[in-house]
Amino acid sequence: PRSPEDPLEGGSGSAPKKSHVDEKRPAPLDIQSYKFHRELGEGMFGQVMLASYTSKKQLVAIKKVPKQPSKGNFTCIMKEARLLKIARGCPFLCHSHATFQSELHAFFVLEYASGGTLYKVIEDQGSLPMKNIQFYTAEMVIALQYLHSNGIIHRDLKPENILVDNNGHIKICDFGLAVEGVFGGKKISGLTGTPGYRAPEVLSLEKYNAGVDWWSFGVIMYEMATGRQPFAPSLVSAQELFEIREKNLEYPRHMSQEMRDLLPKLLEMNKTKRLGANGNIREHSFYARVNWSELENRKIKTPF
Ligand code: ADE
Repeated sequence: PRSPEDPLEGGSGSAPKKSHVDEKRPAPLDIQSYKFHRELGEGMFGQVMLASYTSKKQLVAIKKVPKQPSKGNFTCIMKEARLLKIARGCPFLCHSHATFQSELHAFFVLEYASGGTLYKVIEDQGSLPMKNIQFYTAEMVIALQYLHSNGIIHRDLKPENILVDNNGHIKICDFGLAVEGVFGGKKISGLTGTPGYRAPEVLSLEKYNAGVDWWSFGVIMYEMATGRQPFAPSLVSAQELFEIREKNLEYPRHMSQEMRDLLPKLLEMNKTKRLGANGNIREHSFYARVNWSELENRKIKTPF
């Protein structure tokens, strides 16, 4: 029986603004109700398995995380459970259908995104056409603005954490490193994220805010266009990023004028001037042909 009393499902996070979740067929809250098919991935924090319930059509991805109370990660699990619930309010975030626990593990029952990761898409295609990048990144803009307006910074955006669903829409996943409660001008500090995607202010251990996600967003956009990361993961100082950015960042010929204009505004060293954190990226000419309200309502099909 479905027990709503599980503290992981109860959650006290702020309410999502709108919900796309289908509550007609609730996901079971016990592990025996699921049939496991294969491993989808092994993350830093746990294993993800492809599973199903009630019928084969109801495919889900189940993330299993050890509770290890001795290592103090229970608060992280509770945080992830809260954020996965908030993610239900945006179609471009991978949300949880249910969360429950056993004595030793927490289980997150997640939407299954059958198209794999953006990492794999870039690897397979080498580089992506401008219209595909416009589509994927516009959906990311909606997801990031939703997170930030709920006081959440993802802090670990990278192609491995961006999934593609069976209709070709993106789903940002993995809130393991996210931080909550960052509203207004509030700033936080500390080294976080993945080398290659870290903003200069993170590398220099300065205070930062949601602008760190827009830096990573710019890195990912560059990677989609060129098939390679603009900043080597071995770079460890803001000065090194600055030098690469000024002297060595190549914009290949097939890159549109609009993207050439947008990228430097995202890969802006000054966190207070960076587009996304400062000014509305939706109004940039790169997105001139995007109908944002239709996109938000998933009315726009993939252009490819
Ligand atoms: N790998 C990690 N999470 C996943 C998900 N929700 N769907 C597909 N593959 C995944």
